[in-house]
Amino acid sequence: MASIPVDVSGITEGTQLTVLFLGKPVFIRRRTQEEIEAGRQVSLDDLKDSESRNPNSPGGVDSPATDENRTLGESGEWLVMQGVCTHLGCVPLGDGAGDFGGWFCPCHGSHYDTAGRIRRGPAPQNLHVPVAEFISDTVIQLG
Ligand code: FES
Repeated sequence: MASIPVDVSGITEGTQLTVLFLGKPVFIRRRTQEEIEAGRQVSLDDLKDSESRNPNSPGGVDSPATDENRTLGESGEWLVMQGVCTHLGCVPLGDGAGDFGGWFCPCHGSHYDTAGRIRRGPAPQNLHVPVAEFISDTVIQLG
């Protein structure tokens, strides 16, 4: 399967990079401490989709959708997700968009939180996380 390295050294806290991988956008966000805390405070009972959708999580894609299970690495700083709304595939807006400070899909009004989890609107699932890993301090390999 194809894989690509992405240099993330230029991504400052509170910003994100969008890259194309296998023909789809992938969001790589370096979250702020506030975003991390907001994501970690959410009760699993408040989530519409209880699965992490993260193949990199130790428990796999159906592990609980905790903030920790959504991110790459232990600090919670790095969130890597497919920029494809799980409703009908539009590209959500980011940088704190929507009512939960994460992403907002303008096509039919789906709101995702700071961990990319669906919180309101028609989308059925959290934004999917692609296979990804750090291969050096500043490079994430997708795929
Ligand atoms: Fe995103 Fe419908 S495609 S809400």
